[in-house]
Amino acid sequence: MLRCLRVAPLSLRANLHSSVHPWSAAAQRAVAPPEDFNDRAFKEYFPGPCNYRQQYNESVHNGDEFWTNVANELHFRRRSGKGLEYNFDHRKGEVFVKFMDGSITNVAYNCLEKNIISGMGNKVAYKWEGNVKGDACEITYSELRDKVVEFARVLKSRGVKKGDVVALYLPMIIDLPVAMLACARIGAIHSVVFAGFSSNALAERVKQAGAKVLVTCDGFYRAEKYIPMKQIADDAVKVCEDAKHPVESVLCLEHLKTVTRPSHTTDKALIRDEENFEFAVNDAKDVFAPVEWVQAEDPLFILYTSGSTGAPKGVVHTTAGYMTTAYYSQKVTFDAQANNDVYWCMADCGWITGHTYGVYGPLLNGMTSVLFEGVPSYPDYSRTWEIVGKHKVSKLYTSPTAVRSMMAHPEEMVTNYDRSQLNIIGTVGEPMNPCAWKWLHEVVGERSCAIVDTYWQTETGTHLLTAHHSAVPQESSCGNLPFHGIVPALLDENGKKVKGPGSGTLVIEKAWPGMMRTLWGDYERFVNTYFAPFPGYYFTGDGAKRDAENHYWVTGRVDDLMNVSGHLLSTAEIESALAANPNIVEAAVVATPHDVKGQVPYAFITMPEGQVMTPEIEKEMRATVRQRIGAIAVPDVIQFTPGLPKTRSGKIVRRILRKVAEGERNADLGDITTLADDTVIAELWSHRPENA
Ligand code: WTA
Repeated sequence: MLRCLRVAPLSLRANLHSSVHPWSAAAQRAVAPPEDFNDRAFKEYFPGPCNYRQQYNESVHNGDEFWTNVANELHFRRRSGKGLEYNFDHRKGEVFVKFMDGSITNVAYNCLEKNIISGMGNKVAYKWEGNVKGDACEITYSELRDKVVEFARVLKSRGVKKGDVVALYLPMIIDLPVAMLACARIGAIHSVVFAGFSSNALAERVKQAGAKVLVTCDGFYRAEKYIPMKQIADDAVKVCEDAKHPVESVLCLEHLKTVTRPSHTTDKALIRDEENFEFAVNDAKDVFAPVEWVQAEDPLFILYTSGSTGAPKGVVHTTAGYMTTAYYSQKVTFDAQANNDVYWCMADCGWITGHTYGVYGPLLNGMTSVLFEGVPSYPDYSRTWEIVGKHKVSKLYTSPTAVRSMMAHPEEMVTNYDRSQLNIIGTVGEPMNPCAWKWLHEVVGERSCAIVDTYWQTETGTHLLTAHHSAVPQESSCGNLPFHGIVPALLDENGKKVKGPGSGTLVIEKAWPGMMRTLWGDYERFVNTYFAPFPGYYFTGDGAKRDAENHYWVTGRVDDLMNVSGHLLSTAEIESALAANPNIVEAAVVATPHDVKGQVPYAFITMPEGQVMTPEIEKEMRATVRQRIGAIAVPDVIQFTPGLPKTRSGKIVRRILRKVAEGERNADLGDITTLADDTVIAELWSHRPENA
């Protein structure tokens, strides 16, 4: 108790006595983050007394030297002597980013062999927790390396070479990081597809990436729900048959036989002999799969993310830059302590957070991580805290959505479990709302954990804005500061830089090593999406505000993307899935606020004259969205309307739809004189479902 008081963050000292939350006797807090924890790592690079602002200035003004110093801690076969090179202005020539171009290294080697050589072979790399309580196992760094070599042999036996794409469609099982690392070991490019995606969404990604091999498993359970992975993968492969490069091999792991099934069993998968991973291991025993030493700018992975129009975008990350920033940001934001930490990133490896902070960041830092197959609500909402207590988790990375779903349940679901080692709780995915922040801080952290909000993107690879612990007071409304090496700016509607406090479109002025390099197979779209809107800047697609001390608050997307439970979805993609129904003339989808998920899709649809909406049609539309995109994209509300609010030039005025979706009858709708027909507004209100 005394220790907690002594090391509590400065800003809390004044009000500790007025704490309304009693210290839980069952789970006394013992450890709080040291005040300088975010600085500790940085001091290794810039010795002497320092503070965040000084460190930040150094990292920006001597960026090249700073990042190269960080990279010096990692293993390179050859260093070219080059640093960060880039051009963000397409008017001045090709947009590009390179880091240590011409150097040679291997990310998997740095994650595994480098740690093993330094004596960490017997250290646990992953503690796996299954969907059903009691299903658990661990794997050391040496064992992980052995599994990676075995997997790499199998990939090689299927003809996978450096530069080939391997699609990974797997749940959160140890084989997923194994497969990612196996690709990295042999210089293949992994493209992980989230296990919640439908067969069509998987097919689209497999096709676009030109994947040679698709790795999946028989199936898995998410809570009580059976997800037939192999069947979905088979359906996807069929869709890909006419592709320019159809999938050459499917590899299927047998996962179900290793786990406890929930109450019912519907799990059957057809695994042909040539697809069976276990048989393939046997066949590949004599295949040689050494570390492939690759170029700094060789691609490490592709990860698809929603685009505001058209198909999903295959974000490409390369080797040396991504590795350097994943290593460094893990170390600084989470104060990675290889010897003491048990770290748990709750994000699925199907998203960028799972890539950078579930696999590469923690392994590069020699950390022990928890890998969780299940969901926070199963068997009940105490599951997260049961795992935190069981493994004495010291650092947790979660999302506002997960927090909001847990805080709706009794506090005992948290306080009954040991959180004595927990000292940092990171969040990512959406703006952190004050209630969720307070709950994490007071109920979970009992006022002595650092709550570190982190803002970044699939494209950025690594943190852009964080609540740097030693510089941002522990209060929910304090905003975030730029991460080392990141130079954000705000632009007004004319593209002019906003000076001092204000708000605008968030852009980044300078490159950093871990940012995306291109969109797979579509360099033009890469330039048009991220650099053409504001020449000379990387365009994030988000809006933000800033105070006089350079704290930022990200306010949300400025494009047609929505953020449902931390996942970006394209309104255009949902609209085209809805409009595929022959009974529909047009569909318009907007994001509307939701207490737990942050935002949810709300759809407006028009139908041919005289046709009426029926529960069957609505059901069909929901099924199409589920099948084409996935359950997460299914609109909460599908509202029929005789017409959509359009300008005379035919553009849908979405701000009006948003107000209707939000139920704000008295809201100011702004200028409606440009509408072709303003009687539509009354129609929209009269058709709004009562329960929406
Ligand atoms: C949003 C996830 C506010 C934002 C790592 C961004 C956030 C998009 C935050 C990227 C945050 C992520 N505060 N908004 N801390 N973190 N976002 O590519 O709109 O899945 O552009 O990457 O999520 O989502 P993505």
